[in-house]
Amino acid sequence: MKAIRLHAFGTAENLTLDEVETPQPGRGEVRIRNRAAGINPIDWKTCAGGGASAAIGELPFIPGWECAGTVDKVGEGVSDFKEGDEVFAFIRFPEAAGCYAEYTCAPANQIALRPESLSAEAAAGLGLAGLTAWQALHDKAQVKEGQRVLVLAAAGGVGHIAVQLAKAAGAYVIGTASAANQDFIHSLGCDECIDYSSANLAVSVNDVDIVIDGVGGDTAIEALHCLKSDGILVTLPSVTAAEVMAAAEKGGYRVLGIRVEPNGSQLAELAALAGDGKLSLSLGGSIPLAEVARAHQLSASGHQRGKLVLSIN
Ligand SMILES: NC(=O)c1ccc[n+]([C@@H]2O[C@H](COP(=O)([O-])OP(=O)(O)OC[C@H]3O[C@@H](n4cnc5c(N)ncnc54)[C@H](OP(=O)(O)O)[C@@H]3O)[C@@H](O)[C@H]2O)c1
Repeated sequence: MKAIRLHAFGTAENLTLDEVETPQPGRGEVRIRNRAAGINPIDWKTCAGGGASAAIGELPFIPGWECAGTVDKVGEGVSDFKEGDEVFAFIRFPEAAGCYAEYTCAPANQIALRPESLSAEAAAGLGLAGLTAWQALHDKAQVKEGQRVLVLAAAGGVGHIAVQLAKAAGAYVIGTASAANQDFIHSLGCDECIDYSSANLAVSVNDVDIVIDGVGGDTAIEALHCLKSDGILVTLPSVTAAEVMAAAEKGGYRVLGIRVEPNGSQLAELAALAGDGKLSLSLGGSIPLAEVARAHQLSASGHQRGKLVLSIN
């Protein structure tokens, strides 16, 4: 099969389209013939030698932790999925998962049936960002109806899903984005849209129960002042989590970090919300597998709207 492999940590130019052996599903696994694979900031961070690079083992490495396609082979002990099922997946993170490829073997308890309302390309981008938003809002912050939720980077991969999940939970949602993305985050359901380039968050937003922080660093530290006394900020970028937590401790604020975990049942919850029309995935671009370097460069610009995916024929 064809797969993208990283041969040395460094720039996106170190990714090459190679011919490799097609993987065989082990016990408890299915093999997916991929139609698309999602791109996330962790992908280019890992390829540069940061991110999850310590967990992936020896190079060469096939990047990518999420994909969507058709089950084409079922391993022993799998009863929930069969050949021909249309599925999407977020798997094995932070270990190597091999989703930038024509075929990927996936643990059956880390995938879900793709709802008809989502194309395979859209579903390929849902797993990692969707589970991050779900786990931040529900597992970490225990969002409740009527709460005020502030989403920093509401136009991004995680943020645009967090806005919709918070609305589905009955929250009042405030989102931040650049001027160019104000209409977009309003269309997602934000009750208030803040242009981060012109507003001082600490002054313009207050009494917030939950901050979902997709930006980190100084922006997250400023957003601590938006919290109610019993509010909580969940910070996503792990690179700045320690400095945000140190500032929170000084000021008496509650902050939690997160590392998203694969979870097939929660993927099925996301699929159900998409099926009910309460969640959609905004595709910011679909780029052919062979042009992966361009996809990584776009993601690394930090201004991607929604999700980028690699299309796989
Ligand atoms: N810990 C975990 O398990 C975990 C899981 C997933 C993601 N993450 C991390 O969380 C962060 C967000 O991930 P993502 O996938 O959502 O990234 P992304 O899609 O690349 O985010 C891009 C978005 O960030 C927005 N943005 C940039 N600077 C901003 C600012 N100062 N204020 C508000 N919005 C800003 C951009 O909006 P504009 O174009 O409008 O500026 C753009 O839409 C990344 O650092 C990622 O590595 C961590």
